[in-house]
Amino acid sequence: MGEHGAIRLESLTRSYGRVVALDDVDLEVRAGEMMTLVGPSGSGKSTILRLIAGLDRPDGGRILVDGQDVSQVPPHRRAVAMVFQDFALYPHLTVLGNLLFGLRVRRVRRDEADRRARSAAERLGIGDLLDRYPDQTSGGQRQRIALARALLREPTVYLLDEPLASLDAPLRFATRADLLALHRDLGTTTVHVTHDQAEAMTLGDRVAVLDRGRIRQVGPPQQVYDEPADMFVAGFLGSPPMNLVPGGAVLGGSRGLILGIRPEDLTLDVDGSIEVTVDVVEALGSESILLTRGADGTRLTVRAGPRCGARPGETVRLRPNPDRVHHFDAETGRRR
Ligand SMILES: Nc1ncnc2c1ncn2[C@@H]1O[C@H](COP(=O)(O)OP(=O)(O)O)[C@@H](O)[C@H]1O
Ligand SMILES: [Mg+2]
Repeated sequence: MGEHGAIRLESLTRSYGRVVALDDVDLEVRAGEMMTLVGPSGSGKSTILRLIAGLDRPDGGRILVDGQDVSQVPPHRRAVAMVFQDFALYPHLTVLGNLLFGLRVRRVRRDEADRRARSAAERLGIGDLLDRYPDQTSGGQRQRIALARALLREPTVYLLDEPLASLDAPLRFATRADLLALHRDLGTTTVHVTHDQAEAMTLGDRVAVLDRGRIRQVGPPQQVYDEPADMFVAGFLGSPPMNLVPGGAVLGGSRGLILGIRPEDLTLDVDGSIEVTVDVVEALGSESILLTRGADGTRLTVRAGPRCGARPGETVRLRPNPDRVHHFDAETGRRR
């Protein structure tokens, strides 16, 4: 397990007319790894997947799979299986028909194909849906059908383009756990795309953060969260986002710096060094999010306990965790 499917992207560029979708992207995905590409809409995530799948060609750069340049290999001969956000099931085929389709194309014997399709369906908990048509299934079930179909290709690489995006929250949560378990069992290299930062934190062995066609940072999710390489990454990973405050304001520091602190690293404390007024209290059940404002107008978001007692209009004091203050260069946005 895990010795196949290493991917290497070298200086990939792709433009559509005047839109630069990818601007010199280098990325290495290790064999057997789950790599999550995360970034706002339009940052180039789907373009990267399409290039790996061979559904689109780069303007420049190379794509290597297991050390082989696959640029000239047509999509159907690349050992990749892509799951799209909209699932792309055949509406006129039953669920079983959808699962068998790829196997028939590859001339797998009828009884063998049937056996494999049923086993994949069982594995994804859709074994009782085989005779239905896609429009007789729910979004979550369709998502599993698409995954089962991808499973049947037995690829060396899975490419998952926002596979959970159209599911409602509880189902997304459950399916996220299933995807993780599936990846752990199969050990197949997976590149997974999402714009959801919680998904990026939980699903990848590593994340690559994209912004306007450029990779800003690559690393294990917790490491990227703890040490964001620049202000873009700092603001993108984490919800609510990190507070970013000019140097010389409430967090101290000098001019020319931007200081950052996450909402969970500010604590309500009568002896705290920062006095703020509470504007809004969002009681979320498991926690409270306080939107506050310092005397100089600096806004600070605070993650507090569920029954923290703070009320709008009240003045409170905050204690920043000094070990968790981030420093960024105000000019370049880079971490210092
Ligand atoms: N076929 C296309 N024609 C024109 N523009 C495209 C095409 N595909 C992508 N783009 C543009 O390239 C940029 C990156 O797109 P995409 O990779 O789909 O972003 P993401 O998946 O991160 O939302 C966007 O600005 C998008 O509008
Ligand atoms: Mg996309």
